[in-house]
Amino acid sequence: MATKLSDEALDQLFRKARTQSAWLAKPVDDALLREIYDLAKMGPTSANMCPLRVVFVKSTSAKERLKPALDAGNVEKTMSAPVTAIIGMDIHFYEKLPKLFPHADAKAWFKDRPENELEHMALRNSSLQGAYFMLAARALGLDCGPMSGFNNAKVDAEFFAGTTVKSNFLCNLGHGDSTKLFPRNPRLDFDEACRIE
Ligand SMILES: Cc1cc2nc3c(=O)[nH]c(=O)nc-3n(C[C@H](O)[C@H](O)[C@H](O)COP(=O)(O)O)c2cc1C
Repeated sequence: MATKLSDEALDQLFRKARTQSAWLAKPVDDALLREIYDLAKMGPTSANMCPLRVVFVKSTSAKERLKPALDAGNVEKTMSAPVTAIIGMDIHFYEKLPKLFPHADAKAWFKDRPENELEHMALRNSSLQGAYFMLAARALGLDCGPMSGFNNAKVDAEFFAGTTVKSNFLCNLGHGDSTKLFPRNPRLDFDEACRIE
């Protein structure tokens, strides 16, 4: 039976974790990137469709290819981050369903649906997987800096040309320099955002 995580773990995942924009000069091993994915992939998606596809932009040359797509305010934080993950989504996720959902012909449920419906499903589920990804990174001791301020079409042309994958959002990864943080903004209280019926 599952037990509640320690306060220390909850602080690390949620209460003390911040969106980071400045990075310490501490590298991130490729093995850790694999660990993030191997945790994140276990989170649930509709019909186990797993539309998330990730490009870890790490080399200087790959960062230079990403740079022209970034909004001005996101350039410095991205170029200085040890890694930038392109959180992508395969609009034709159904091609993998024979592996991912083998006990039914799930591919048939989706393959003739209009592209805009497929994209809607891929966006919902890859966004969930992107959130699992960030929590996995935090659980493994990394900081995240998610960003939607970029030109998706440019990223898609540069990193996903000739495929059915599109970018969803970007996420810088590394060890954040907490001395550069602004004070935390408030969140909505339970009664402002929720009700129990
Ligand atoms: C999907 C997404 C897109 C975001 N886009 C940007 C962005 O383009 N540039 C930026 O500086 N911050 C961006 N942010 C960061 C948010 O402003 C930040 O996560 C939020 O204010 C909470 O900050 P905190 O985690 O430090 O409390 C984005 C966050 C998310 C989740």
